[in-house]
Amino acid sequence: MCGIVGYIGNQEAYPILVKGLHRLEYRGYDSAGVALLTNNRLNVYKAKGKVADLENAAQDKDITGTMGIAHTRWATHGEPSVRNAHPHISETGNLVIVHNGIIENFAVIKEQLSKDGYHFQSDTDTEVLVQLIQFAVDKHHLDLLQAVGHALRKCIGAYAIAVMDKNNPDEMVVARKGSPLVIGVGKDNEEFFVASDATPIVEYTRNVVYLDDEQVALVKRNEPIKLYNLDKTEADFDIKTVDIDIDMLSKGGFPHFMLKEIFDQPECLKDCMRGRIVKDENGKNDDLKIKLESLEMNAARLLKARRIIIVACGTSWHAGLIGKQLIEEFCRVPVEVDYASEFRYRNPVIYSDDVVIAVSQSGETADTLAAIKLAKENGAMIYGIVNAVGSSIARETDAGLYIHVGPEIGVASTKAFTGQVLCFEMLAMALGKANGNLEQDRYEEMIKELNIIPEKISKILESNDAIQNLAKRFTYAQNFLYLGRGWNYPVALEGALKLKEISYIHAEGYPAAEMKHGPIALVDQEMPCLFVATHHQGYEKIISNMQEVKARGGNIIAVATEGDEEIKIIADEIIYIPQTINWLVPLLSVIPLQLLAYHIAVEKGLNVDQPRNLAKSVTVE
Ligand code: F6R
Repeated sequence: MCGIVGYIGNQEAYPILVKGLHRLEYRGYDSAGVALLTNNRLNVYKAKGKVADLENAAQDKDITGTMGIAHTRWATHGEPSVRNAHPHISETGNLVIVHNGIIENFAVIKEQLSKDGYHFQSDTDTEVLVQLIQFAVDKHHLDLLQAVGHALRKCIGAYAIAVMDKNNPDEMVVARKGSPLVIGVGKDNEEFFVASDATPIVEYTRNVVYLDDEQVALVKRNEPIKLYNLDKTEADFDIKTVDIDIDMLSKGGFPHFMLKEIFDQPECLKDCMRGRIVKDENGKNDDLKIKLESLEMNAARLLKARRIIIVACGTSWHAGLIGKQLIEEFCRVPVEVDYASEFRYRNPVIYSDDVVIAVSQSGETADTLAAIKLAKENGAMIYGIVNAVGSSIARETDAGLYIHVGPEIGVASTKAFTGQVLCFEMLAMALGKANGNLEQDRYEEMIKELNIIPEKISKILESNDAIQNLAKRFTYAQNFLYLGRGWNYPVALEGALKLKEISYIHAEGYPAAEMKHGPIALVDQEMPCLFVATHHQGYEKIISNMQEVKARGGNIIAVATEGDEEIKIIADEIIYIPQTINWLVPLLSVIPLQLLAYHIAVEKGLNVDQPRNLAKSVTVE
């Protein structure tokens, strides 16, 4: 996710900004930039790639100035490139902005501003915002603070921004809604630091002000911060003290990226839904609907699909298995799920009215890329569910949904999985509604529940300490069985994959009913069996499968639904998750399995973020 750093004070800004960008590298990004204000001159330097590339780009250039803003960008609108990198400058060249978040109505605003004679150099929503602020200055003769407020009141979406005006080298305006922003307060208000989180700030000051949503701050040297609500009323604020261990800075305060990414999931899923679950203009007052531009623009082709084929690898393939169940359930269209590596080498039957869905976090997996190229040659439509914007797979697709969960750095995929499942949920619901197979009641019930899924994930994350304690008891295991039925069968596969890749314990995922066709021979006191046994599809049957394991002396861990007392009779260990509806359960039931794998690996002293032999992006065949 993007990172913002800003400085205004009496020191040279550039070294502080660049160091701050390095501190934010853990968030992941694909370009970086900096703007410095010195003697009414604005110098902007940008680079595609890493902060080190930016430092090279700025070498031998004028990097003086005691005020500046800087940014690491993780592409959402437009490919990673120098042109799309922040900071962005307004038409007059006076205003400069860095932004984290998404302005959802940027296209409408851009069209209007273009008619008013404003020109755009990039594909970003951010440039639209700085032009809108410039418009407020030009048209309404507002000062910077007022112009920022005026522009933000017209924006729908999320933002954290820092803005400077070339003609006013004594102040900076910052604001937030939905995306985090912190201001570090220097001694006697002599200097201020702005950042997406406290990590770039704590080595200078531990006194910080956290902005609330829809607040705008005026930051001036040697003066206290002035804070306003977006409705122009003045806001009170407290200066808080941050307490961050300097060693944990690069991981946002977590000991590992994997744990951070597990904990990021409630926010990530909100980002994934943002702008996609919207007010239904034709419905009743509080009606919501799923709005997917990629579906609206390609409705004819998607709706007449004879068959859908999902291709993916690893964790993304597990998400595909859930996608199959969702699409078949809501749309009644047959779906096949293939390992991309098998599909591409098998001479598969592909019809021109097939839709092939590629699922990938990195967007660079060689087998998945080759599979969609093959499908494309055979005339199928290619749809992508991809995290990395502008990646090779994203570019190869005809249409698709970005997962929008931010960069995933831990090698073991966690938030990308839940993001992929969520994309399938929204796609299947929107398609099912459009082809008339998903009833209105069910559609409404699902949307309502989707909106509270992030809260329910947060609730599960409160069990982290309990799961850590549980993990300590299973570090001895050489083998593990993960069992589930229906919606929870792919979750069992995913739980087993998580465990084996980071703890090096051999783990098998199975449909629970298959156990008696072979794997049950492995069951003894040494073999923990984890059942994903929530109150859904096949619950009674899975209880019978648990009895079969119990009868053979097996050790049972159950992931169960809150309030399920019956399961206590059979299971040795229970992790409860909140109740939800059938089709959404994988979004919850996978969370304890991610935590369990993480804690077992940590207890074993292993390198969780970079397990042996594995790569984050598998660009080999
Ligand atoms: C497991 C994991 C891998 C990836 C697989 C596909 O935790 O991360 O199994 O899911 O290599 O990668 P993407 O999704 O980038 O295509």
